[in-house]
Amino acid sequence: MIKAAILGTGRCVPKKILTNADLEKMVDTSDEWITTRTGIKERRIVSEGETWSLLATEASRQALEMAQVAPQDLDIIIAATFTSDYRLPAGACLVQQALKAYKATAFDLAGACTGFIYGLSIAEKFIKDNPKLKILVIGAEVLSAVTNWEDRSTCVLFGDGAGAAVVGADEEKGILSVYTGSDPTVWDLLCVPAGGSLYPPFKEGVPKEEYFVKMKGNEVFKYAVRYMEEAARTVLEKAGLEPKDIDWFIPHQANIRIINMVAKRLGIPLEKVIVNIEKYGNTSAATIPIALDEAVREGKIKRGDLILLDAFGGGFTYGAIVLKW
Ligand code: UT7
Repeated sequence: MIKAAILGTGRCVPKKILTNADLEKMVDTSDEWITTRTGIKERRIVSEGETWSLLATEASRQALEMAQVAPQDLDIIIAATFTSDYRLPAGACLVQQALKAYKATAFDLAGACTGFIYGLSIAEKFIKDNPKLKILVIGAEVLSAVTNWEDRSTCVLFGDGAGAAVVGADEEKGILSVYTGSDPTVWDLLCVPAGGSLYPPFKEGVPKEEYFVKMKGNEVFKYAVRYMEEAARTVLEKAGLEPKDIDWFIPHQANIRIINMVAKRLGIPLEKVIVNIEKYGNTSAATIPIALDEAVREGKIKRGDLILLDAFGGGFTYGAIVLKW
């Protein structure tokens, strides 16, 4: 049966490394606190001249090259992000322009940290409808632009980066099952309060910090563990698989304690869990495609492997995908 398969992956992160030692000089924190509470040692931050669209385009070029798909043959470009270069146009349109992929339909989706999973799930539906399509799914963020660098409870967590995947039809490999969901009941635990149409930029009386990501971390933590476990169990069941069948677990990289807790609850041994949070921190929609691309290019992931992708983020949004490589 025809499946929607990932034909190629790519990634691009900024050159500048911001270490925990650097952050010690900026806010009241310590390498020890950040490492033990989050697993993060450093993150990448854009410098002058590095933009969301440059990172997203480079990741996309690599994915297209691996997939051996020409940009001109792309039918759809989906960019999961809430930090692209402009409010308008969509970041996907900027990548389309840079790639000269003029045949494509390009749009962004706002799924926060689950955005790449949402993007893949949309791509899968399109491919099932028309197996001839070639779809580029991007997860990219410049979170440094919406980070309050005076708030130690959030600024130590985030980083910038981009990952991408080209999706097309295949009879052997591909997506076996998809599960997505949202829980909006406590959306205000993780949000950017201002800068939208309710509190537009420069609206009088809106404090500066409202334009940055705000999070009640310890509350969000509990939901993250719960929904990531639920999403993983549901998607495995839909595929007729059990956690022990999985060769590689690629969870959203928000906190090493969340990753370890979810893996433990699922009974997946840590050797099968792909972790790179120490290098990049939380890059929202970009964590999973970056980790996937690293694991593919390092030769960890091999043809025929069963992979579980699992994410949770602002909204709340959550979702998981099982695929055969
Ligand atoms: O991307 C998807 C969604 N995001 C997540 O899934 C993130 C979920 N949450 C987390 O990862 C964790 O909750 C954090 C890493 C954000 C925080 O870790 P925590 O263990 O939940 O700490 P906490 O917020 O309960 O704070 C514990 C203490 C507090 O001090 P008191 O009140 O105990 O004196 C904080 O003020 O740690 C303090 N603290 C810090 N200390 C040093 C908070 N941030 C820092 C910091 N450095 N950077």
